[in-house]
Amino acid sequence: MLPKEQNELLTRIGPGTPMGEVMRRYWLPALLSEEIPEPDSPPARVRLLGEELVAFRDTNGRIGLVGEHCAHRGTSLFYGRNEECGLRCIYHGWKFDIEGNVLDTPAEPPDSDFKTKVKHTAYPTHEAAGIIYAYLGPRQKIPLFPNYEWNQVPLNYTYVTKCLMECSYLQGLEGECDSSHLSLLHQTFVDGPARAIWRLDSAPAYETEETDFGVRLIATRKAGPGRQYIRFSSFVMPVLGGVPAGRPPDELDGFEVHMYVPYDDTHSWRYDFGFRRTRAVEPQEVHRRKQIGPDYRRIRNAANNYLQDREMQKKVNFTGIEDFLNHDACATESMGPIYDRSKEHLGSSDKAVIAVRKYLLNAVKALQDGKEPPHILRDPAKNHFPHIDCFAHLLPAEARWRERFDFLTATAQKENPAAYAPAEKKALQAGEK
Ligand code: FES
Ligand SMILES: [Fe+2]
Repeated sequence: MLPKEQNELLTRIGPGTPMGEVMRRYWLPALLSEEIPEPDSPPARVRLLGEELVAFRDTNGRIGLVGEHCAHRGTSLFYGRNEECGLRCIYHGWKFDIEGNVLDTPAEPPDSDFKTKVKHTAYPTHEAAGIIYAYLGPRQKIPLFPNYEWNQVPLNYTYVTKCLMECSYLQGLEGECDSSHLSLLHQTFVDGPARAIWRLDSAPAYETEETDFGVRLIATRKAGPGRQYIRFSSFVMPVLGGVPAGRPPDELDGFEVHMYVPYDDTHSWRYDFGFRRTRAVEPQEVHRRKQIGPDYRRIRNAANNYLQDREMQKKVNFTGIEDFLNHDACATESMGPIYDRSKEHLGSSDKAVIAVRKYLLNAVKALQDGKEPPHILRDPAKNHFPHIDCFAHLLPAEARWRERFDFLTATAQKENPAAYAPAEKKALQAGEK
């Protein structure tokens, strides 16, 4: 369980809160590229870290992310006109560029220089692989944009959806750090190659290790005589879970990253981004899209009990609900808007959840102590991540993953040697034989 104060510390993300300040030091997804598809297309509402914002793509294709409420008297710029390199408020016609400069104040006298005295809220953005990211922190602290592998592959090798979650980001994120629920929540009574293994062993052995980017999570299941099934996933600061979702065992062609971005304290955006390393994505791989309405809310949601079908629950799958996306939403949203973790009872299967909370709490502490939290990128030479990889593999029972997959440790080893010392060395240090 987590004491109430720590729960508050992790889940309150508005401006000025400790966790909110940590989140503001990173590039976070703000919206999908498809929401403002072309120059001068209509603006889109953005809710991020408790702030009310509007995004627009100007005449030159540059992206603005500005305060929703006009600097004049507060009318929503969502209704504004996106015209000639600026967004114009419909009330008195004030016009703003992507940097928040006031370009025009037509209701003021022609010789007025009032517009030069006002600056509107505006945040830097970066578009990559179908997502528009934003940085909401102090300008002088802006980090490099992370050069993750999935931002480098061709756009048609990727897919992305987003949907609103009616709960704190942390509930969603914790679900990504919990491999054991695969064997229960997502269970079907019709076997696929991975599902048969998940069912065979519903109590995986967990290993977690802190890295320079976050936490690597290793879940090992028994997979029949002489075999083990190892699943590597990653928590990447501050809101990303990397998982081999939809990839059968030994399928190494890319993975998925699921990001849980705070909308406010009690809502979050779930972004599901997948990529392939060697080929274009096929339409059926974007199966989540048909679960999400045009307003980015799930069709199956708390208001309709996720359209749970009790007959289906008896015969087809464990939940009686269609699609993993909705299983996860039902499990995490039904905890309540912000779950009171002082009431929980954590078991061995929650080892990874505990490790991720600890990592996040340490990041909060670091910033409070005047240090930078981890995985804020300053050095271009270190802005590459061969050691962030997520996959599942069947191995002989006696095989050791560190030897087999040493690329996972090659870079991170330098950052945190203690965590990467071979097991034999650690045993010697601990005085064991
Ligand atoms: S409120 Fe926007 S121009 Fe007056
Ligand atoms: Fe899940």
